[in-house]
Amino acid sequence: MTVVSAPGKVYLFGEHAVVYGEPAVPCAIERRATVTVEPRDDSHVRVEAQDLTLDGFAVEYADSPDDRPDVDVPKPLLDAATGYVDAAVEQAREAADAPDAGFDISVDSEIPLGAGLGSSAAVVVAGIDAATRALGEPLDRRELADRAYRAEYDVQDGQASRADTFCSTMGGAVRVEGDDCTRLDTPELPFVVGFDGGAGDTGQLVAGVRSLRDRYEFAADTVEAIGDIVREGESLLADADPDSDPSAELIGELGELMDINHGLLSALGVSSRSLDTMVWAAREAGADGAKLTGAGGGGCIVALDATDETETSLQYTTDCEQAFRAELATEGVRLEE
Ligand code: MEV
Repeated sequence: MTVVSAPGKVYLFGEHAVVYGEPAVPCAIERRATVTVEPRDDSHVRVEAQDLTLDGFAVEYADSPDDRPDVDVPKPLLDAATGYVDAAVEQAREAADAPDAGFDISVDSEIPLGAGLGSSAAVVVAGIDAATRALGEPLDRRELADRAYRAEYDVQDGQASRADTFCSTMGGAVRVEGDDCTRLDTPELPFVVGFDGGAGDTGQLVAGVRSLRDRYEFAADTVEAIGDIVREGESLLADADPDSDPSAELIGELGELMDINHGLLSALGVSSRSLDTMVWAAREAGADGAKLTGAGGGGCIVALDATDETETSLQYTTDCEQAFRAELATEGVRLEE
């Protein structure tokens, strides 16, 4: 039995624009997906998803996804438990040169699905790592990140950047611009997450931005402006001492950029009423800045606030189902057992 976990993430800046080659800065957070893999004697794949819903469920199928039985669960859940796991299995089989390898796989995630916290990337990263280790062919982190990106790219019909999967593999704060992925040395930022209990469809949201960008030059300019925000934010982070608490001035400046970033994402049509409500609740509670995180459409916002005010206020906001402080996960993918 091989057990591997990988963290989720929030975007400090740059989601969506990163798909078009602009830079982005996602940060791994201490909420993990854990994948347990046991090789089988046949080529079947059995996926069991625990804690993703109250009940969880299990499906078993031979190597063609067409063999999957019908399961009465919401699509994001089914995709997480089968689509992304299938893609991870394919990558592991290819990497280990074991096309007929079968596995019993169990997914146990603390990251809400489709909510902008990188649940699918964490499942894919942990899944490929666990399966290749179980086959005796562990991958180095760069290859793991690359294969995890290819798995997400396949599931999302060619609409994925390397940001989520690289961040989940490496941990910490990272910078992604096209194929260029690096880790950043940043101070610990006071992230607060608000979750509306919902989810967005990443593929559809990315397609919506693409359509606006294709039709309107000003939408393409908006995507470029998000890139400018990221460059501005990066230079603030580069001047900060990674080993000290961030200054109030730094948090204020980063927060201002987050607010502008949210406005531009909203202009591109990827916010929602509940995300906007949570963003405003955070700002009114005194957060230095707040924005949606991830693909949008529903799910999570991230705010910067060193006090408890934002978390408390979000907990009393009707549109917010859950609020929590998110610590930076300095460790990325990790072998648990
Ligand atoms: C989704 O978490 C982030 C997006 O930028 C898509 C991607 O980068 O693959 C919307």
